[in-house]
Amino acid sequence: MTEATNGNDVALRIRGLNAGFRMSDGYLPIIEDVSLEVRKGEVLGIIGESGSGKTVTGMAILHLLPENAETKWETFDFLDLDVTGMDEEAFRDLRGNRMAVVFQDPTGAFNPAKKVGWHFHQVFERTAVKSPDHAQRAKGWRDAAIDLMRDVGIAHGENVLGQYPHQLSGGMLQRALIALVLAFEPDLILADEPTTNLDNIVERQILNLFRDLQKRLDSAFVFITHDMTIAAALCDRIAVMYAGRIVELGKTKEIFDDPKHPYTQGLLATALALEEKSGERLQEIPGELPHPGNLPPGCVFAPRCPHVFKRCEAERPPLFHLPGREVRCLLYEDDDVAGR
Ligand SMILES: Nc1ncnc2c1ncn2[C@@H]1O[C@H](COP(=O)(O)OP(=O)(O)O)[C@@H](O)[C@H]1O
Ligand SMILES: [Mg+2]
Repeated sequence: MTEATNGNDVALRIRGLNAGFRMSDGYLPIIEDVSLEVRKGEVLGIIGESGSGKTVTGMAILHLLPENAETKWETFDFLDLDVTGMDEEAFRDLRGNRMAVVFQDPTGAFNPAKKVGWHFHQVFERTAVKSPDHAQRAKGWRDAAIDLMRDVGIAHGENVLGQYPHQLSGGMLQRALIALVLAFEPDLILADEPTTNLDNIVERQILNLFRDLQKRLDSAFVFITHDMTIAAALCDRIAVMYAGRIVELGKTKEIFDDPKHPYTQGLLATALALEEKSGERLQEIPGELPHPGNLPPGCVFAPRCPHVFKRCEAERPPLFHLPGREVRCLLYEDDDVAGR
C-alpha cells in the first residue's frame, strides 16, 4: 500500500477483490484485483466516471450485491477480524453492528411505515449495550436524538421525530440519516454519491457534516463520488477506478498536484475545465468506457490514452509501486520500487 501501515489503526484491508455477475449469456467480470485499505479516522475516496465499478466495489465490501453476483477475495480484514471466509449470517451481524451505508437516495434507509423517531429509538436501543453511558443515552433517547439532529442542522428535531420519512425533503432526510449514523457510531461508513441529488448549497452543508462526523467518530470512511472537487475537499487518500480496476492510488493532495496515470490526468483536466467554464459543456476525455464484456486485450485505458504505445495494446499492466503512490501504467514500470 501507499505507506507502511502495519499498525492496528487499519480498519479495513482488502486484497485481491474480484467481482462479477452471472448473466443469461455467461459470467460478466466487473471488478479485477482491487486492493485497498482504510485507517481509522481516514477518508478514502473512490473516484471515476459513471460505470467504472465504484458502486460494485462498495457493495461487494458490504456484501450487498444482488443474488447473481460472485465475489472473491485474497484477504478481507476488518478491525481485528479476518472476514475472508466468514459466512453470510455472521457477516450480516457484523455489518448490522459495525458498518453504515449512505446512498444517494436516503429513503431506502428508512422504513416508510415508521416515523423518524422510531428509527432513532431502534439505533439507541441497539447501542445501549456498548457502555453504561450508552445505556443512559438509550433511556433519554428523544433528547439524544434531538441533540444529534441539531448537530446536523435540523432545528426542530422534536417535530421531525413525529414525522414519516416521506414528509421530509431529500436534504432533510439525508441529514436525518447522518444523525442516525452518528447515533449508531459505526467503525466503517460507506457513502456512495450521497449528495448527487441535492442542490449546491445543501450539498456543501452535507459534505461539511460528513467531515465533522468523520472526525467525531474516528471511523474508517469510504466515500464514493464521480466529482473530483468533492473528493479533493473531503478525502485523505484517493483510489481512481477505471473499468473495474484501481488505476491510481495515493494521497489526495499528491494526486491533485501530480497525477501520474493518464486517466487521472484526464479527469483532472476535465474538472479544471468545468470550473473555469463554470457549467458550460465540459471538455471530456475523448472516447468511452469499454463495456465490461468487451474489454481491450491490453491496458483497459489504452484506446483512450494520449500516451499509448505498442506494448499497452498487448499487456495488462500491474500496479506499480512508486513512493507514496500506486499506478497501473507501463509508463511507470521503471519507477517501481517494490521490486517485482
Ligand atoms: N447487477 C448487475 N448485473 C450486471 N452488471 C452490473 C450490475 N450492477 C452493475 N453492473 C455493471 O458493472 C459496471 C460497474 O457499475 P457500477 O459499479 O455501478 O459503476 P459506478 O458506480 O462506478 O458508476 C457497469 O458496467 C454496470 O453496468
Ligand atoms: Mg455508482
